[in-house]
Amino acid sequence: MRVLVTGGAGYIGSHTILTLLERGDDVIVVDNFANSSPVALDRVAGIAGRSPRLHRMDVSDETALDAVFAAEKPEAVIHFAGLKAVGESVAEPLRYYSENLGTTFALLSTMQRHDVRTLVFSSSATVYGDHQNAPYREDGGLLEASNPYGQTKVMLERVLTDVAQADPRWRIALLRYFNPIGAHESGLIGEDPRGVPNNLAPYVAQVAVGRLPEVGVFGDDYATADGTGERDYIHVVDLAEGHVAALEHLRTHEGIRAWNLGTGRATSVLELIAAFENASGRPIPHRVLPRREGDLAQAWADTTRAEQELGWRARRGVAEMAEDAWRWQSGNPQGYDTE
Ligand code: NAD
Ligand code: WQD
Repeated sequence: MRVLVTGGAGYIGSHTILTLLERGDDVIVVDNFANSSPVALDRVAGIAGRSPRLHRMDVSDETALDAVFAAEKPEAVIHFAGLKAVGESVAEPLRYYSENLGTTFALLSTMQRHDVRTLVFSSSATVYGDHQNAPYREDGGLLEASNPYGQTKVMLERVLTDVAQADPRWRIALLRYFNPIGAHESGLIGEDPRGVPNNLAPYVAQVAVGRLPEVGVFGDDYATADGTGERDYIHVVDLAEGHVAALEHLRTHEGIRAWNLGTGRATSVLELIAAFENASGRPIPHRVLPRREGDLAQAWADTTRAEQELGWRARRGVAEMAEDAWRWQSGNPQGYDTE
């Protein structure tokens, strides 16, 4: 299949294009490297033995996008491009709404003009908000989010639903990711956040490698087994394979549908730190801090729908996620800047 991937140089994008290249797909990447490095694409090409074609541009530039669609004639699109930092979105809501909505509007209009109506969209478990209890089900009720970043995902799910309703030729997968962590087993590609990481796993990995002094544990008085927050961490390669399963499903199904991509298992902050201690063979200094505002005690997926309808399930456990993340972090202590 000829697949156009926006944000294909990013963390999840790079792992997904590798999976696509390895199964023989023709891959076209559109990325402006706002939050990624071109080195990631070189590494992907090195592992796969084939390169994606790159168009370095902003997805919101509809004229440029038009030219890419005319030249490349993609059959399907995976849309990863967007801004994703929750705290930043609270500080700069206008930028988040304008970027995440603007890029998606430009993409959808261009797809429509070029008769390309197969789309896999990166949504997030954040759309379940805080009024439901884990495990989250796709049909669990009204979607909401507690920050502007999450709101853009709720809004875009609404927009895509209306678009699909208006024209039944659309085939759209809304993939609600839980907490993607880990890296490709080669240790050559992985998560490379700019500045101090916002998320637990990259933070822990940077403490393990000596880039940061200690992990702050945001609260140990939650109503969970060890008092720390529980999440559904999913290996990024399992997640990448979930995108392939969704693309395959869309070959034979019109309309729009949401699927959770998670493992269905919960891991606490202390358990994740312990997994990285095992993987790295190093003690990871950590200290309990107050709760982080807006955090939930527990979040994990009901994975039944993806298993039954996509024939997909996550296969890798937290130990493997930590081992693969550690191979990437220890081999590339400064991320892609090492080159
Ligand atoms: P990432 O920042 O690593 O990747 C995003 C990519 O998009 C980057 O390569 C960036 O340069 C590119 N990009 C951003 N704006 C662009 C623009 N206007 N034009 C062209 N390229 C642009 O993020 P990620 O973790 O790989 O996330 C991918 C998608 O998955 C995002 O939509 C994110 O919201 C969603 N998501 C991520 C997580 C997570 O925890 N990582 C969880 C749920 C959902
Ligand atoms: C995990 C757990 C923290 C950092 C976020 C977004 C969500 C999604 C994924 C895109 C929590 C604790 C964290 C630290 C800690 N992104 N923690 N010390 O909050 O589940 O989800 O990323 O869609 O929208 O909200 O992930 O990795 O930030 O936190 O103790 O330094 O680790 O309290 O329990 P979260 P996270």
